[in-house]
Amino acid sequence: MKIRPARRIKGRAYIPGDKSLSHRAAIIAALARGTSHISGFSTSSDCASTLLCLRELGVSIEQNGSSLRVEGVGKTGFRPPNERLDCGNSGSTMRMLAGVLAGQNFSSTLIGDGSLRSRPMERIIEPLEMMGAHIESQDGKPPLRIEGTRPLKAISYELPVASAQVKSCVLLAGIQADGRTDVIETLGTTRDHTERMLAWFGVPVERVVTADASAAIGIHGPISFAARGVNIPGDISSAAFLIAAAALLPGSELEIEGVGLNPTRTQFLSTLRSLGLDVRITEIHEKCNEPVGNIRVSGGSFPEPQRVDRGPQSGSPAGVVVESNSVRGGLIPQLIDELPLLAVVGTQISGGIEIRDAAELRFKETDRIAATVKNLRMMGVGVEEFEDGLAVAGPASLSGAELDSFGDHRIAMAFTIAAFLADGASEIAGAECVEISFPEFFELLESLVQR
Ligand code: S3P
Repeated sequence: MKIRPARRIKGRAYIPGDKSLSHRAAIIAALARGTSHISGFSTSSDCASTLLCLRELGVSIEQNGSSLRVEGVGKTGFRPPNERLDCGNSGSTMRMLAGVLAGQNFSSTLIGDGSLRSRPMERIIEPLEMMGAHIESQDGKPPLRIEGTRPLKAISYELPVASAQVKSCVLLAGIQADGRTDVIETLGTTRDHTERMLAWFGVPVERVVTADASAAIGIHGPISFAARGVNIPGDISSAAFLIAAAALLPGSELEIEGVGLNPTRTQFLSTLRSLGLDVRITEIHEKCNEPVGNIRVSGGSFPEPQRVDRGPQSGSPAGVVVESNSVRGGLIPQLIDELPLLAVVGTQISGGIEIRDAAELRFKETDRIAATVKNLRMMGVGVEEFEDGLAVAGPASLSGAELDSFGDHRIAMAFTIAAFLADGASEIAGAECVEISFPEFFELLESLVQR
């Protein structure tokens, strides 16, 4: 994909349905009894992988664009699959479905593409085996052959990594277990869509915060629940790319409507504001247990100094803004998918930006630290690489360059925005991978960009 520099972004946009919420809506509707109608379902190929696997497990799903009709089979109504379940590029599909399959009285095999086959799965194998399932893997990586057990044993499990996918996997197994399953988060709060979606379907989920600020999320199994309609808001992680472009290009005016504003997903907006960029939430209401609203962005204001609000977890009193261009600690899980983009934003900010405590980025669809560092260096930016992050010099002028997506959708989109800010055209190899989360990305951007 050849990308020319942009002058500004102008207009109003709707973003397709949230990918994280869409996976959960489809899986939880399949586990429910009765017919659920889902609107705003993600157009991503990752979510199509989830639907493919559910259908192979005997769930009837009718799809009309972004509307789905899911005939829930209940927790015990899945059919042993005839084929291996192909999760494509989607870690969410594999990890969340593994939680469902662990409680079935049949065996199944989850497979994925080259990227997914290199991703760590011990993080779900350990808790699911503690619950009684038996899982074979290739040295902790896919394919996973899951021999389910019914009923599963309830466990109390402290997450060894701050991962919403692992938390969700254990909770989905927990609804099939005998007794109370607890997932304990000590390394930062991860997105809580599974808890909210289960509650929306009438499943009681308890969240207890302890004195040391860790949280225990508890669920009593086995539990059956009924179908329910779900309306999915726009994906804030997809919107983030447009927001960054509009915030950085002087003269831009962008309004995004109907986007999910769950507080475990909006840290990128807070960070942009702390860096002095003009990003406002103009309206907020609740839909299906999730906050939804509009975002307005005006481009090109860069007031000093650059400040990142580290929030209460950092040890500073709540609401105190720490003067620093550093993002780390408990904040990281809340902007995990936006970190490559934040590094691009950092190139435009005086003092640049430092991202630490983010070693998890090395285990995403590609090693996102290495990919970001390589591409930024190709554009002539000074970058320091750490095992757990990177530091970007800023403000820096970006040169148009030959870039690589490394087959990773978020790298392709982050560097499309970098290419907008560059002197001269850039080319991104393998940019078609944006379809993994946001197939409309290039077309929508083209309709908003002025050159
Ligand atoms: C997701 C959780 C995150 C995120 C991924 C989606 C989810 O992954 O990076 O894009 O929907 O739960 P981890 O759980 O591996 O951090």
